[in-house]
Amino acid sequence: MSQSTKRNDILVNRFDPEADLSLQTHDVEIDAFSLSDLELIAIGGYSPITGFLDQKNYDSVVERMRLADGSVWSIPITLPVSREKAEALQIGQQVRLTHHGIVYGLLDIVDIFYPDKQREAQQVYGTDDENHPGVKKLLERPDVYLGGPITLVKRTEKGEFASHYYDPVETRAQFSEKGWKTIVGFQTRNPVHRAHEYIQKSALEIVDGLFLNPLVGETKADDIPANVRMESYQVLLQKYYPQSRVQLAVFPAAMRYAGPREAIFHALVRKNYGCTHFIVGRDHAGVGNYYGTYDAQHIFHNFTPEELGITPLFFENSFYCRTCGNMASTKTCPHGVEHHVALSGTKVREMLSRGEAPPPEFSRPEVARVLIEGLRPLSVG
Ligand code: ADX
Repeated sequence: MSQSTKRNDILVNRFDPEADLSLQTHDVEIDAFSLSDLELIAIGGYSPITGFLDQKNYDSVVERMRLADGSVWSIPITLPVSREKAEALQIGQQVRLTHHGIVYGLLDIVDIFYPDKQREAQQVYGTDDENHPGVKKLLERPDVYLGGPITLVKRTEKGEFASHYYDPVETRAQFSEKGWKTIVGFQTRNPVHRAHEYIQKSALEIVDGLFLNPLVGETKADDIPANVRMESYQVLLQKYYPQSRVQLAVFPAAMRYAGPREAIFHALVRKNYGCTHFIVGRDHAGVGNYYGTYDAQHIFHNFTPEELGITPLFFENSFYCRTCGNMASTKTCPHGVEHHVALSGTKVREMLSRGEAPPPEFSRPEVARVLIEGLRPLSVG
C-alpha cells in the first residue's frame, strides 16, 4: 500500500505543445466531454491515469472500482467513437484528437473495443434507466471506445473562467504558499446555499483552508449555468468568508450524476489538486431518487484511507431550524421537519426563475439576487 500512497502524490503531466503533428494520418474528432477529460488527464487532475482507458483497465474500473494495477478509480474515463471511425483506425497508430477541427491532443491507440454499455450503466450508475442523465449521456455517445495514453498539445480557451482556472500543480503550490497543511475540498454543481455554507464552515473549523471547487464542465440543462454560479460564489465569499482561508477555483470536468461512484472520483481528483480532506454530504452527485441519501458516504468504506489518500468528511442533511434558531443537521437538531426550512432544487430553481428570492434562511439574499439576475434572460421566451 505504501507504493500506491507514493504514486498518489505524483502528478501526471502529459502536456507537450512541441509535439510533432505532421506524422499522423488520422484525425479523431472528440466532443466537449472528451476534450475536458483529455485536458484533465494531461494536467494531472486524473492522476494516476495517463490516457483513455484500455479494455483491461476499463473492465477493472467497471467491475471493481480499481485500475488493473489495483489503484482505486471509480469512473471509467473513455473515448467513444463511431463504428465507422473505429473501422478506419488500427491499434498501434497515433492519431490527432480534434475538437471543432482544432488539434488538441494525440492518442497512441493501444485498444479499440466495444463496451457493454448496459453493464457500464448498471455498475457505474446503478441503473440502466435512460431517464438518468448520466446513463442517457452514456447511451447517446458513440459505441466504440479507443484506449491508450494521450498527449495534450494545446490548452483549451478558459474564457470567462480564466481567472479561476488553476492546474493541480498550481493549487498545490498556492496551498503551500498560504501555509495550509490541511485543506478541505468542496465539490458543487449548485449555488452555495446556507446548507452548503454550514457544512463548509463546519469543516473549516477543523482544517486550515477551504478549496471551493465548483464543477463548470457539462451539466444537465436544468442545472444553474456555471457562469451565474461563479458570480454567486464570489459575492458570497466576499461578504461571508474569511478571504485568507478560502480558495475558489473551477473544476472543468463534466458532471456524471453517478452518485456514490462519482463521490469517490471527486475525492480522488481533489486529492490531486492538493486537498487532504473532502466533503461528502447528502446525496452527493446524485440525481432524482436513484441513490440512497447516504450511499455516497457508505461507498468510502470499501477502501482504506491509505489507498484513497484523502480523508472524506461526512455531513448529514443540513438545514435552518426555526426552533433551534440556527443551522443544524439531522445529527444535531431534535426537531421534526416541520421546524426546518428545506426546499428542493427544483422548487428553488422555479422561484428564482420567477424572480422570487428563497427565504434568507435558505439562501443568502446577495446570492439570491445574483441568481435571479443571472437566470432572468434564460426564463424570458
Ligand atoms: S453535487 O452534485 O455537486 O454533489 P451539490 O452542489 O448539491 O451537488 O452538493 C455539493 C455537496 O454538498 C455534496 O457533497 C452534497 O452531498 C452536499 N450537500 C448539498 N446539500 C446538502 C444538505 N442540505 N445537507 C448536507 N449536505 C448537502
